[in-house]
Amino acid sequence: MTDTASAAAQAPAAYQGPARVLSGIQPSGALHLGNYLGAIVKFVKLQDEMECLYCVVDLHAITAWQEPAKLAAQTREIAAAYLASGVDPKKAIIFPQSAVLAHAELGWILQCVARLGWLDRMTQFKDKAGKHKERESVGLYTYPVLQAADILVYKATHVPVGEDQRQHLELTRDIAAKFNHDFDAPGFFPLPEAMVEGPGARIMSLRDGSAKMSKSDPSDYSRINLMDDADAIAQKVRKARTDPEPLPDNVEALALRPEADNLVGIYGALAGLTKAEVLARFGGEGFGRFKPELADMAVARLAPIGAEMRRLLDDPAEIDRVLADGAEKATALAAPVIDETRRHVGFWRPGG
Ligand code: TYM
Repeated sequence: MTDTASAAAQAPAAYQGPARVLSGIQPSGALHLGNYLGAIVKFVKLQDEMECLYCVVDLHAITAWQEPAKLAAQTREIAAAYLASGVDPKKAIIFPQSAVLAHAELGWILQCVARLGWLDRMTQFKDKAGKHKERESVGLYTYPVLQAADILVYKATHVPVGEDQRQHLELTRDIAAKFNHDFDAPGFFPLPEAMVEGPGARIMSLRDGSAKMSKSDPSDYSRINLMDDADAIAQKVRKARTDPEPLPDNVEALALRPEADNLVGIYGALAGLTKAEVLARFGGEGFGRFKPELADMAVARLAPIGAEMRRLLDDPAEIDRVLADGAEKATALAAPVIDETRRHVGFWRPGG
């Protein structure tokens, strides 16, 4: 048994299992462009490359208060966003986290593996709890351990996420390495890789280029929601904060211009271009010309997704079928892993 993260550095036996992807999004408010570009776009791409599981992490959502009457609808909305964006239930497993009990079970076991000192370093808890951490739920504090369980209960090897989740993935690797070490099970859990790279990894607020685009920002003008209609999208782009200078012709010159940098990055992520390519097209132009182009690009890409989400949510039977089917498949994949985990920990089994 070790008390530090150093187990990860002790050259553990490499994991031999197949590559598998897992990621999740919280049903805790409207999805925005950051969630789409930082996560969902990668979900769609990866479904053609590896076995993929995408959950709606409702157990995570309740670490902050969620209206019980709305939680199931919020869960369906995230599933609708997956489907409308192109995640195909024939290729990827889509399911609600709370419907697969093994997440909570492994979450508890891993709480007994993770060290308090590791959780004390988690910046997301500090950001969310602010000055009054004693008033937050215990679940908000242990949240990253449940995230590790989400990943490890399927022995997932790859985790597509935005930049803000990097620290949680480091923790997941430390927990996996410590479990393997403490229970003398080399290579049992993989040390999963965060797939953060990509132009949409950190989309910033439209009102403040130094703050992340976020569900919890009180200003709706700070973000483009996936369910916004074409007019709302165009208006938010038009009102996005900028500086008075024209766009530069090189990426270095964006360094001290966070709002311009963000809008160029968003255009690039939507158009499949690098920032340099966007600047090759728009360098020297003012925002008066760039913003309408960006608005058109955003509307062309997002308005059909919003429309398809509304169609799906009008008749939730289809979403419910996908979620129930996904929960069954995910439960079957988690069962042998949780079984083996129990054996490693030494829990009682009949005749065992
Ligand atoms: P959540 O619900 O806050 O965000 C969902 C995904 O969106 C990404 N994201 C962003 N990407 C770019 N720019 C932004 N402004 C932006 N805002 C959010 C997030 O990085 C994330 O990928 N802890 C996770 C949910 C989770 C999870 C997991 C993820 C629970 N268990 C297991 C992966 C694997 C979260 O709070 O995401």
